[in-house]
Amino acid sequence: MNRPRNRLEIDILTLFPGMFSGPLTESLVGKARAKGILRVRLHDLRDYSLDRHGKVDDKKFGGGAGMVIQVEPVYRALKELKALPAPRSRRGRKPFVVYLSPQGAPLNQGILRSLLKKDRLVLLCGHYEGIDERAMNWVDQEISIGDYVLTGGELPAMVLVDALSRLVPGVVKEWESVTEDSFYEDRLDCSHFTRPKEFLDLKVPEVLLSGNHKEIAAWRRRDAMNNTIRKRPDLLLSGGPGKEKSS
Ligand SMILES: C[S@@+](CC[C@H](N)C(=O)[O-])C[C@H]1O[C@@H](n2cnc3c(N)ncnc32)[C@H](O)[C@@H]1O
Repeated sequence: MNRPRNRLEIDILTLFPGMFSGPLTESLVGKARAKGILRVRLHDLRDYSLDRHGKVDDKKFGGGAGMVIQVEPVYRALKELKALPAPRSRRGRKPFVVYLSPQGAPLNQGILRSLLKKDRLVLLCGHYEGIDERAMNWVDQEISIGDYVLTGGELPAMVLVDALSRLVPGVVKEWESVTEDSFYEDRLDCSHFTRPKEFLDLKVPEVLLSGNHKEIAAWRRRDAMNNTIRKRPDLLLSGGPGKEKSS
């Protein structure tokens, strides 16, 4: 993977902007925002409601349990963010719109790689039964964080922001620790150890204490391969996360 872009711009459309305060201010993501490497703006979907009480959901046509987020507030929000497809004459930097959805493509390193190439991202978080299907006309990609259903798209959006951020140079202090992580290449990471050297008869592999960098590097490569074969052999068969091995 080439070294990716060095700035990330993300707009998030949500009914619950307050949910993001911890994940966006703490730890590496918080630092990346403070350094200006990552710019995240939160937009409350209720601000785009046509209803004076800020209501954005309604009952389903056809009946049945649960509410649905209406199409108008989503359209108005995307319009304000210049995220609607522009007529031919006004083609510009339209942001790439992602709808976090359990029905989307399962998130993996391949998808992260392709998202890092976009100039700007808009993340759309659903809630209730989801969003009126007509809003999918302006969605470029649906992304899922796994085959289970959460109450809203906020946690998946946070997962996406976090996973994308650490692939931007400058967010994680040492770039090498990103490239050695699981999934950066088509394999898992090696095992890691720290002090003490011995705990309850459990010893750290001798080679890691040897100071011989060449041997340590060789051990780590072997251990990473063993981890991959043991825990995720599919990575070796498919050619890596998000890739299909060509025959
Ligand atoms: C209760 S879910 C709606 C599920 C929808 N009725 C379905 O079964 O496909 C509400 C919202 O949570 C978000 N969501 C739930 N699970 C998700 C997942 N696994 N990945 C990404 N987003 C998810 C989506 O934004 C969705 O609109």
